[in-house]
Amino acid sequence: MGEVDPAFIQAQEHRPKPDFTKAEGIPLIDLSIISFPNSNLDNDQALGGLVEEIGDACKNWGFFQVINHGVPLAKRQNIEKASRMFFYQPLEEKRKVRRTEEKVLGYYDTEHTKNVRDWKEVFDLNVQDPTVVPASYKPDDEELTRWFNQWPEYPADMREVCEDYAKEMEKLGYKLMELIALSLGLPDDRFHGFFKEQTSFIRLNHYPPCPVPDLALGVGRHKDAFALTILAQDDVGGLEVKRKTDGEWLWVKPTPNAYIINIGDIIQVWSNDTYESVEHRAMVNSGRERFSIPYFLGPAHHTNVQPLEELINQQNPAKYRPYNWGKFLVTRKRSNFQKLDVENIQIRHFKIPESEQAEKLDRALSIKQ
Ligand code: OGA
Ligand code: NI
Repeated sequence: MGEVDPAFIQAQEHRPKPDFTKAEGIPLIDLSIISFPNSNLDNDQALGGLVEEIGDACKNWGFFQVINHGVPLAKRQNIEKASRMFFYQPLEEKRKVRRTEEKVLGYYDTEHTKNVRDWKEVFDLNVQDPTVVPASYKPDDEELTRWFNQWPEYPADMREVCEDYAKEMEKLGYKLMELIALSLGLPDDRFHGFFKEQTSFIRLNHYPPCPVPDLALGVGRHKDAFALTILAQDDVGGLEVKRKTDGEWLWVKPTPNAYIINIGDIIQVWSNDTYESVEHRAMVNSGRERFSIPYFLGPAHHTNVQPLEELINQQNPAKYRPYNWGKFLVTRKRSNFQKLDVENIQIRHFKIPESEQAEKLDRALSIKQ
């Protein structure tokens, strides 16, 4: 192991397997009919088919890839290039835009997932600049604050390229949320209101070659806390997804220009567990560095995340109590920064014990009557 910092070393049971499964992949979904509507086609019928495909993928996998998604290739190439140019600078340059406790966006290379250090460096930027969030994680403190982006001097077009790309992600994110709403039997615009003000962010990930790829991970196993993630991975590959049927880690084969979509914790709660946020992680390797760019779609800070009314009833009572998204987000940021000894805040901390779910609903119904 030589000089590798033990902080990077995963416990035995979480290390990547050398003989990882490449066999069956996550579903690949073609979005042509919504990206390039064609008047010669029976769009209603085609849309029905697409909605069903999305629903099946969300239910069975929590992950899928999309092609013909309408995002111009040049915009993706521009941000990929800017990301390389930024990360190839000396550390002292990158540290000029480093993340601090006050400036929570920008560059850092010390992220931990479940208290093990990730083999990566990242650059975070918010889609809405500034983004309004609670000033404190403390539940009773109502003060708000603003998070501002930090832009490096180099490459000179970093800001423009990122902002252009963010617009494309937003369009795709909305389209996907419409399809997901339809797949849950809801009106297509059911989720739009949550994102009028938003906390969405983009992360540029750089995973350098790693001398101990069998012991460390680029990102340790985790679920994404936001509503939805749209990930661009390069041709190196390394993303692994936990298959729902048997818990096997599956390697996601890179598909050129496709996006990988996954359900985040917020959709899990909104859908009352109809769709689940699935664990994933990223492997590193000793030969090739890897880049990826996730976009995390997040609602306004004042959103109280809870199962949607239309999706709960006596047979299917709410499985979660509401939680304030802004407070959740700020609590996460704080613990990511400070490496606290306690576990990160998780949606299961808001789960209503099964024995109480029906009871709560009975009570709510009797109040309404
Ligand atoms: C993430 C993530 C995977 C990847 O940043 O949340 O899961 O392939 N990234 O970079
Ligand atoms: Ni993730």
